[in-house]
Amino acid sequence: MKKKINIAIDGYSSCGKGTLAKAMAKALGYVFIDSGAMYRAVTLYLMQNDVDVYDESAVEVALANVVVGFLNNQEGQSEVTLNGISVEAEIRNIAVASKVSEVAKIQIVRSKMVALQQAIGLEKGVVMDGRDIGTVVFPDAELKIFMTASVEVRAQRRFAELVAKGDVVTLEEISANLKHRDAVDSSRENSPLKMTSDYRVLDNSELDRDSQFALAMQWVEMACGG
Ligand code: DC
Repeated sequence: MKKKINIAIDGYSSCGKGTLAKAMAKALGYVFIDSGAMYRAVTLYLMQNDVDVYDESAVEVALANVVVGFLNNQEGQSEVTLNGISVEAEIRNIAVASKVSEVAKIQIVRSKMVALQQAIGLEKGVVMDGRDIGTVVFPDAELKIFMTASVEVRAQRRFAELVAKGDVVTLEEISANLKHRDAVDSSRENSPLKMTSDYRVLDNSELDRDSQFALAMQWVEMACGG
């Protein structure tokens, strides 16, 4: 059997990181972890409990009551949990998306999430997507992929997803939210999204899912010494 590795997939919002990460984890028999879902679950808790996300001390107090985890649903897919209850659907709305970058800036929130992510990665065999996975969470990951795509392509994809779910949104709103999150995620002081020379870059503006998957799996082969 090939050696198990950790795979870090970082990049901008709505680049299809999760879709690729899930497909890779399934093919390899690895665990898939959506680290953004963890920051979204914390954000949901703060919103539900009327905690001001700009007040770091209030966030720190509230964080003591937050337990984030994962469960496998009946289809075998991983869902993020907040205090033991799946919040997979609630965390995907635009209200959470509009606050999550603020919450993800806060160091105490990051430290708590990173500790959990590193514990999950100890045994290897994890595909994790996010913004700081290759730089902070798993700096020694055997394979690091940086995903990117044009903002137009990303906004269009996210718009189609939300409309299909029945959300009432405009393309302009989605595009503005993506640009805002990219800017905050890349410029924040704590663990910003940053590409370093050890990443393999995957620009999927014009690549379909199968081509992305094939390319990424070639990189896995190389990283496993195959
Ligand atoms: O991947 P996503 O859109 O679900 O992430 C939600 C937010 O969480 C995003 O604005 C950036 C932040 N995030 C982060 O700071 N670090 C991660 N490892 C993952 C997500």
